Amino acid sequence: MITLNGLQFQEYISEKELLHAIDEVAVAINRDFKGKQPVFLVVLNGAYKFATELLSRFEGDCEIEFIKMSSYDGTASTGQVQTHIPLEADLEEREVVVIEDIVDSGNTIEKITQMMVTAGVNKYRIASLFFKPGSYTKEYKIHYVGLEIPSDFIVGYGLDYNGLGRNLNAIYKLKTTKMTNLVLFGPPGAGKGTQASFLKEKYNLIHISTGDVFRYNIKNATELGTLAKSYIDKGQLVPDTVTIDMLSAEVDKTPDANGFIFDGFPRTTAQAEALDALLEEKGTQVAAMIALEVDDEILVKRLLERGKTSGRKDDADEAVIRNRIKVYYDETAILKGYYQKQDKYYGVDGVGEINEITTRLSSVIDKL
Ligand code: IMP
Ligand code: MG
Repeated sequence: MITLNGLQFQEYISEKELLHAIDEVAVAINRDFKGKQPVFLVVLNGAYKFATELLSRFEGDCEIEFIKMSSYDGTASTGQVQTHIPLEADLEEREVVVIEDIVDSGNTIEKITQMMVTAGVNKYRIASLFFKPGSYTKEYKIHYVGLEIPSDFIVGYGLDYNGLGRNLNAIYKLKTTKMTNLVLFGPPGAGKGTQASFLKEKYNLIHISTGDVFRYNIKNATELGTLAKSYIDKGQLVPDTVTIDMLSAEVDKTPDANGFIFDGFPRTTAQAEALDALLEEKGTQVAAMIALEVDDEILVKRLLERGKTSGRKDDADEAVIRNRIKVYYDETAILKGYYQKQDKYYGVDGVGEINEITTRLSSVIDKL
């Protein structure tokens, strides 16, 4: 396993397999371009290594030209193809073999195809070391393919993740760990804290309560805590970016965890999207949003009971309690929709004995 820019990758395709695939592409190209003196057009940066190996196997005379393009940022396609070094050579009436590292969405190939037409080539062929048929959205034929692979993000052998990994002699795949990341919801008085501590034990999860994370960072005057405090002191809301950075740091403390229980976050769609992005960067995702469902009247009764013994002021006044419950439903309605769209919403009956409720929660988690 290797780490590049903070992401983990595991070895996926060995150098031996790559060289074997390149041998086969070379055989086909030697057969098709025998005595033809083609121009090999190498697409930088990714294809440099494939081009070196492939061209060292070409048996005839040839010319070599370069263009430089990019369409990826991080581990995802931007959908925009940028040309950094344009085509300078005159390719009119020439036979051209485009050498690409990988064909993914096909956006780059589309742009190159247009370039070939504009250049007035006699004929062009595309050779790509990798092809992801599952991501391909175009119709252009890829004439020579080294290896067809699933749509996972890969690095090595010329391919990079944010600039790193091109020099590796094998292909590595982004490590996607199957984590059980839960977003736990429940109205005040639903027993969320109690259930979170049981689930944490049972599934060996890390409980991230946003409130606790804030208090910890502020108390220890971390950089982010100090920043958050500066907003709080001015009576302003802490910006989502600060909160998400704190959560990110919290997740990074235990990268090998079985998963996390997010408690108190997200509260808005923007935060839910930020959480998705954060987890995706770490090669994982939200597995489920679980909401404890308890009838309002039962909640009011429970909280008033609790108020009598705990002395918590916000548990003593029925109007305050009802308002807190209302705020909860106003906030969660949007998030419920957000996770329902992804088939990740699970409502769990929160009325009954504590262990009964834990059993209901477990039956949801066990199926994730
Ligand atoms: P397309 O335009 O979506 O077909 O993407 C082609 C370009 O995206 C390639 O030339 C690479 O630069 C980059 N790319 C696509 N998939 C990967 C990958 O898995 N790892 C690294 N770069 C990739
Ligand atoms: Mg490329």
